[in-house]
Amino acid sequence: MSPTATAVQPGVAVHPGQPNSLHVTEIPRQAPGPGEVRIRIRHVGVCGTDREIIHGGFGAAPEDEASLVIGHEMLGEIDAVGAGVVAFTPGQLVTATVRRPDGCPACAAGQPDMCQWLRYAERGIVGMHGFMTEAVVEDARWVVPVPPELSDIGVLIEPISVVEKAVRQAMLVQKRIAAWQPKTAMVLGAGPIGLAGTLLLRSRGMDVVTAARRPGPHLASEIVEAAGARYVGTDETALQALAAELPPLDLIVEATGSSEPVFAAMEILGNNGVLVLLSGTGGNRELTVPADAINRSLIRGNKVVLGCVNSAKEDFELGVTDLTRWEQMWPGLAGRFITRRLSGLGAYEQILETPAGDIKTVVEVR
Ligand code: BGC
Repeated sequence: MSPTATAVQPGVAVHPGQPNSLHVTEIPRQAPGPGEVRIRIRHVGVCGTDREIIHGGFGAAPEDEASLVIGHEMLGEIDAVGAGVVAFTPGQLVTATVRRPDGCPACAAGQPDMCQWLRYAERGIVGMHGFMTEAVVEDARWVVPVPPELSDIGVLIEPISVVEKAVRQAMLVQKRIAAWQPKTAMVLGAGPIGLAGTLLLRSRGMDVVTAARRPGPHLASEIVEAAGARYVGTDETALQALAAELPPLDLIVEATGSSEPVFAAMEILGNNGVLVLLSGTGGNRELTVPADAINRSLIRGNKVVLGCVNSAKEDFELGVTDLTRWEQMWPGLAGRFITRRLSGLGAYEQILETPAGDIKTVVEVR
């Protein structure tokens, strides 16, 4: 990045590893160097990872710095372009991917989302300041154009990209089965990732059951049903009982944020099916599981359990295309994910509040 700091700007930050350390810090405001753009931040979304970082369970500051500016879900607008950048012009809406490569073979081959050494940096998460500030300088290679019609909800593209990768990976893996034609899917969890997964799989024509703990009706169950999926509260109906009344589950996307449903998901997955795990669980939970039965059913049924994290630039691009398509299929539905809009970086303390029924909090920087 360009070393020419011209001014400073506020950023909402934590001291990683230290709970209750949310504060406003000052970071340099830079001019873009060759191949870079400067993005003026409009909206920043808050997710479970941010909350874990805020609670001190995760995250690392850039080298030799004490604070980490948080935020990795972003919609912004190009404010300046560096030498040699022809793909972007000032005023254009954009978002950016989260992870920056280390030198591992996967990163070197252009797939930092599949990083092998895990020495990557992630914006607002590990080793690199995030987007909860006024402007960032970014290598144009990581920047993704967003059409103006998504100006209210484009901040959702990052969480959507996570399920885009999940489904893309599942489809790649399932090329192992010539006759695979997925019909029935289950999504576990009804937070932003579970809801995005529900819309994505519905928009691909699958029958979808979305299961999360809290029995409906509530906003999340309404969103699920508006997309033509079925919502089930697992506090009322156990997953095994639910699966017993359904056709074989070809695809399960686990996005509850908990490790507990993972093993039940393995039990209920249909033969030749694929289970994608998306919950990056901190903690040290231990569970007793029916190990022989799960192992037997995975083996006999040729089932795949697939861990999946982060997302590639192509997943962001798929996210842009799909969000545009969902707006045509279900106008305004994705926008209902955003349950709270906080005005300005100064409202940062409200990030800590988790009002009942909150799905996605967005900080409107400007
Ligand atoms: C982000 C991913 C990131 C992961 C782990 C998630 O919240 O969406 O991009 O890789 O956290 O750090």
